[in-house]
Amino acid sequence: MRTGVWLVGARGSVATTSIVGGLALRAGLAGPTGCVTELPELRGPALPSFADLVFGGHDLATTPLCKRAEALADAGVVPGRLVAALPDELAAVEQELRPAPAGVTQADRAAAAVDDLTSFRERHALDRVVVVNVSATEPTPRPHPGHADPDALRAALTGPDEVLPPSSLYAYAALLASCPYVDFTPSTGLRLPALAALAEELRLPYAGHDGKTGETLVKSVLAPMFAMRNLAVRSWSGMNLLGGGDGATLADPAANAAKVQSKQRVLGETLGYVPQGGTRIEYVEELGDFKTAWDLITFAGFLGTGMRMEFTWHGCDSALAAPLVLDLARLTAAAHAAGHVGPLPELGFFFKDPLGAPTHSLAEQWTRLTEFTRQLHAGRDGGHDHVG
Ligand SMILES: NC(=O)c1ccc[n+]([C@@H]2O[C@H](COP(=O)([O-])OP(=O)(O)OC[C@H]3O[C@@H](n4cnc5c(N)ncnc54)[C@H](O)[C@@H]3O)[C@@H](O)[C@H]2O)c1
Repeated sequence: MRTGVWLVGARGSVATTSIVGGLALRAGLAGPTGCVTELPELRGPALPSFADLVFGGHDLATTPLCKRAEALADAGVVPGRLVAALPDELAAVEQELRPAPAGVTQADRAAAAVDDLTSFRERHALDRVVVVNVSATEPTPRPHPGHADPDALRAALTGPDEVLPPSSLYAYAALLASCPYVDFTPSTGLRLPALAALAEELRLPYAGHDGKTGETLVKSVLAPMFAMRNLAVRSWSGMNLLGGGDGATLADPAANAAKVQSKQRVLGETLGYVPQGGTRIEYVEELGDFKTAWDLITFAGFLGTGMRMEFTWHGCDSALAAPLVLDLARLTAAAHAAGHVGPLPELGFFFKDPLGAPTHSLAEQWTRLTEFTRQLHAGRDGGHDHVG
């Protein structure tokens, strides 16, 4: 199953690491550590192989991909020997990267993006193209009447207003080009009534949102533990320090607010109440792609005895995210091939703020994911709707 992976934000850290990793796996130069779809419980014939993946994408930036890859190697995010071994493969992907679509109205820009996607699919004789948003986090957009339904949206996009934020305009173009869509970011993406209805109308699946790679991943394991032992979590405070492009974007209070909201949801929904405390994100340029999270949890046990737990997470964000981007592209392609439509709650395992009928517990998400994948492999699923 030849599958295009179209990355919005294709020259960013997560995208570049995904591309280098995908090319290295295809060439047999690296093992699949971190790729969930290579575990025995998920591996199987329904998923496109790494050799089946063809990369392309949009970005506002113009830095050559090989330079971005070298910079990530210098920063210790990807091994330099892999970047050095893949010059032709990286140059071939460079040919498939396009500038952010231009046009007078947002309808014109969407049409230009659709052209980019359809010509990519045709040029490489791809069975399908999965669009994955790994672009910079956006602030939450202001409501607009065009967000209500597909007709209102189509009409509004031809006018002078900025109706959709960029992530949603890319999602709209993905749908018009018959591409399933994955949102790895906390941005709005497909989460507007008009776009959800359009995905249903056009019979396309989508997944999101906001990749779960660090502090929230640990929270989604620990919070169910406190809940299952009937321990009362009194407070849960987290401090995240990160650099890199994502850190710089999150220095903007509006983008930061979107991310913090996405990170806190797991506690309220897993515990059934919201403990005191919050999550803070601070930009520290020096840290580059390496993130530190400190969490302090205070909780009460039998007869109210107070206790505390602390953890520190030192993660390389892009190295944690990139294998999941490859996993999501493979799983969403298989779901599309099987005829799934609408949000894919079974992929909630990968996200901080899962779409569809969410459970935040990693263990429950794992059970749903493995069952879903088993059905995809068995070809018994037959493609039922998941529009919620
Ligand atoms: N790394 C992780 O662990 C992780 C986890 C969850 C979510 N994310 C999200 O993934 C996204 C990417 O993270 P990153 O570290 O690669 O960031 P980055 O800043 O390195 O890359 C973002 C890229 O998007 C491009 N871009 C910005 N606006 C664009 C537009 N309108 N059209 C096309 N391209 C555009 C930028 O030029 C840049 O190349 C962020 O939104 C981040 O919040 C990352």
